[in-house]
Amino acid sequence: MLTPPQLLTIFGASGDLMRRKLGPALLQLARQGLLPDRFAVLGFGRTRMDDESFRNLITDTLQVSPTDEAWRWLRERLFYCQGGYGDEASMRRLGERINELDALWRLESNRLFYLATPPEVFDDLVIGLRESGLNKSSGWVRIVVEKPFGHDLDSARQLNQLLWTAFDEHAIFRIDHYLGKETVQNLLVLRFGNTIFEPLWNYRFVDHIQITVAESEGIGNRGQYYETAGALRDMVVNHLFQLLTLIAMEPPISLDADAVRDEKLRVLRSIRPFEPEEVDDHVVRGQYGAGTMGGRPVPAYRDEPYVAPDSTTETFVAMRLFVHNWRWEGVPFYLRTGKRLPRRVTEVHIQFRPVPFLLFPPETAGQLKPNLLTIRIQPDEGIILRVETKVLGMGMQVRSTPLDFYYADLGTKIPDAYERLLLDAMRGDQTLFMRADEVEAAWEIVTPILRHWKNSPAPDFPNYPAGTWGPEAATQLLAHDNRRWLTE
Ligand code: BG6
Repeated sequence: MLTPPQLLTIFGASGDLMRRKLGPALLQLARQGLLPDRFAVLGFGRTRMDDESFRNLITDTLQVSPTDEAWRWLRERLFYCQGGYGDEASMRRLGERINELDALWRLESNRLFYLATPPEVFDDLVIGLRESGLNKSSGWVRIVVEKPFGHDLDSARQLNQLLWTAFDEHAIFRIDHYLGKETVQNLLVLRFGNTIFEPLWNYRFVDHIQITVAESEGIGNRGQYYETAGALRDMVVNHLFQLLTLIAMEPPISLDADAVRDEKLRVLRSIRPFEPEEVDDHVVRGQYGAGTMGGRPVPAYRDEPYVAPDSTTETFVAMRLFVHNWRWEGVPFYLRTGKRLPRRVTEVHIQFRPVPFLLFPPETAGQLKPNLLTIRIQPDEGIILRVETKVLGMGMQVRSTPLDFYYADLGTKIPDAYERLLLDAMRGDQTLFMRADEVEAAWEIVTPILRHWKNSPAPDFPNYPAGTWGPEAATQLLAHDNRRWLTE
């Protein structure tokens, strides 16, 4: 598929996301020849800069040689416009710059706006675009909205309502970068490109499912944002729920964006939000205290920059959810995420049930383990299926043997999620972006939890030392069901 000519306007272009993700993604896309020749990037931000200093800033952060061919191609297409977020004069200036670049590069009035700013200014920007008429053109106009998308159900609904005053739903691209990860997309291929899994993918054969997104990093310099978010908003409502929907969804009728998103939405709607009195039985929250990581001491969350010394923000969440439908009734989905856990790993485990009848003598039967399918999202991306095999030799000893596939063995680099997502937005493919109803359904599940926590702040924080797998209560959550976390 060809990428049409267009102007990509990035709000917040002097910020972190541009440097860490969007800049490198653009360069990679340029390297692969995936960007159209008639293309330009207009950075917009409050920081005073001209085109040249913007280009230099990006050169520095990308650490690229000035003679690099792809970079030279991209560099001459980079421009900058300084202004406030949404005020009339700034929007007018932006409009002039857009028209000028449109004519210069013959961009057919196609515009992609990217909100890479802090969420506090999303509203002003959307209103500014609408009032200045920049949301309309003789070509197409689209908008990419970064996370967080709202901070609860009401605010997410309000943001959707506001966006719809300026853009059609088909022009709105809500990012969840987990959907851009190759291994997350591979979930669809694994499930629906193979015959052998689908017949087993239900309550009759699956005992339970675990999703762990563990991070070894702490909160770093993001305290200001994180204090208003916490792990439930930062990770669960988006990344973990997206993984959950792809694992649990029914086969879509096609790969069309709406067909896929309809099925994901059904999963979210099949999860019954908790009543306040149920929350503590199913959801565990934690906050890291001081500890050691890789042999060096690290501070407690409450001692991180911009964090209140008595903060009750959670840096860890574990929960047990049920998807109430014919496929999954009674099968627990255990979700877990946290900062400052022993290592960075994202994994999904499909734990199958034990064999129905034990054919082997008691000593062998005791060694038999139920099959386990592990989908490693990152790092060491791959798939591992544990099967029981006979130990060579006399007798009937058995042991678990992994049948595994690792992407690394293919010898090709795994593209960053932002490369894929940026390109999809440029091409107008919404499959890997969240639809409004999906976002709202996700908030419907977590908002009662947030409300309950607000009404009963955690008294025992910090409750896990940095470098451990979270609070004891998370272990107990599974122990209560005679299970244990499989990612360690
Ligand atoms: C972001 C969160 O959305 O995802 C961060 O805001 C988190 O807190 C990050 O660290 C994790 O992304 P990844 O791709 O490194 O797993």
